Amino acid sequence: MRQPRALPRLFGSLLLVAAAGIAAIGAGPAPDRSVPDPSASTPRPLGQIVPAPASVSPGGAPYTLTPWTRIRVDQHSREAQQIGTYLAGVLRPSTGYALPLTDGPAPGGIRLRLSADERALGDEGYRLQSSPAGLTLTARKPAGLFHAVQTLRQLLPAAVEKDARQRGPWQVAGGTVTDTPRYAYRGAMLDVSRHFFTVDQVKLYIDQLALYKINKLHLHLSDDQGWRIAIDSWPRLATYGGSTQVGGGPGGYYTKAQYKEILGYAASRYLEVVPEIDMPGHTNAALASYAQLNCNGVAPPLYTGTDVGFSSLCVPKALTYDFVDDVLRELAALTPGKYLHIGGDEAHSTSHADYVAFMDKVQPIVAKYGKTVVGWHQLTGATPAKGALAQYWGLDDTSAEEKAQVARAARNGTGLILSPADRIYLDMKYNKDTPLGLDWAGFVEVRRAYDWDPGGYLPGAPASAVAGVEAPLWSETISTSDHIEFMAFPRVVGVAELGWSAASTHDWEAYRVRLAAQGPRMEALGIDFYRSPQVPWRSG
Ligand code: ACM
Repeated sequence: MRQPRALPRLFGSLLLVAAAGIAAIGAGPAPDRSVPDPSASTPRPLGQIVPAPASVSPGGAPYTLTPWTRIRVDQHSREAQQIGTYLAGVLRPSTGYALPLTDGPAPGGIRLRLSADERALGDEGYRLQSSPAGLTLTARKPAGLFHAVQTLRQLLPAAVEKDARQRGPWQVAGGTVTDTPRYAYRGAMLDVSRHFFTVDQVKLYIDQLALYKINKLHLHLSDDQGWRIAIDSWPRLATYGGSTQVGGGPGGYYTKAQYKEILGYAASRYLEVVPEIDMPGHTNAALASYAQLNCNGVAPPLYTGTDVGFSSLCVPKALTYDFVDDVLRELAALTPGKYLHIGGDEAHSTSHADYVAFMDKVQPIVAKYGKTVVGWHQLTGATPAKGALAQYWGLDDTSAEEKAQVARAARNGTGLILSPADRIYLDMKYNKDTPLGLDWAGFVEVRRAYDWDPGGYLPGAPASAVAGVEAPLWSETISTSDHIEFMAFPRVVGVAELGWSAASTHDWEAYRVRLAAQGPRMEALGIDFYRSPQVPWRSG
């Protein structure tokens, strides 16, 4: 898991220097580094994790990791073995312990257990039991075991995340955590089109998201400014359409092998990739690559600005659907996940009738290749396919009419992914001084991103229609991993909690204290998070 972090990274951006300076001003005095993290010497309370767990029964003496600890994994599950190896990879550098994997009895060890009988734990739930006699992680499915490992990390001192050997003790408070998620869809989106991000940058973000039990990575693979995935039947999409980005840099694209590498890495962290090809608008990169896709047969120039709403595929042309079929066929063949996201937002250069006609033709292509449609919520202005998910990105002051249209679709069976822009668009500035990001949806401080309820968010939409939440990070102003970290963290942690934790646990005052405890952990991981003055950070 440390490989992406260990790679050389660019810290040179002036913007970043400005970000750090202004963040420090915004957060008041820098933390006093002479104050030790109290959790380094006493185990942190079992419930002190993010996302908040469903149930905690503290009790008994703590579990202590020792140089003789073994990690015992049920031999018959390859996935459990891999999770054991991943856990050892997290713990070995900082503890300096050997932590061998074993399938035999391992008294006093860490046991990873998969049990089909644990029905109540569902697809992602787990139980963590800690006592001096041992630490047992139990799940019904490997994803649950992986999430249990994330909980275990957070129960150990933050220094466990460091790359070099640290002083212990390494203790986990005694008791039991039993935990299952509220929503099955807990996502983050990365816009790799406005600025391109390398495979290693995406892997790093995946590792950071996994710590908080995010389980979907939505990749916005195409937009006006760049096409980022190789498509064999239309090669110029990537080689020409991918050759630039906002501001005119070199852009880039993923070869099919690289895209598969991202998917494999995400799968090893139990994130499913949801690829998006945005259509019929946001398509200048495609239109620039192939003149024949344009209604007038003339390719527009590549675009490196930040306007929206000026491009459209040619809805009446038959070739448009050959193109869409080829792209979605190749993408579906590469993508083991359930979903293909077809965009559908800001189609301001497409008439309403054309938009509806386009979606009527394109959604069956998604189904033909065995996938489920996801679209931005404008899709509800057409006829969403059966089983489709609409991703809502409106604001508090979005018109009642537009909200009602989405709610109506939800009542008729369309699932909802909630991404309200004035709550969880990670590219919104925190405040007027934030040196990165945009502000068209307003400023979004950490409390605002956390303090709302997905279940009751959209008037008239049944709570049962909510598949989950997703935090998009648009990249008009974002071009480095440090930018990603500064805008995503800590807001995405709150989104992870909204997605995972029961509504009954929702409490800003309690959350901000648990979030503060993540500060030393994020520091140990090298995450350059925004030190919001709303959070009582402490140093580690
Ligand atoms: C969007 O922000 N245009 C989905």
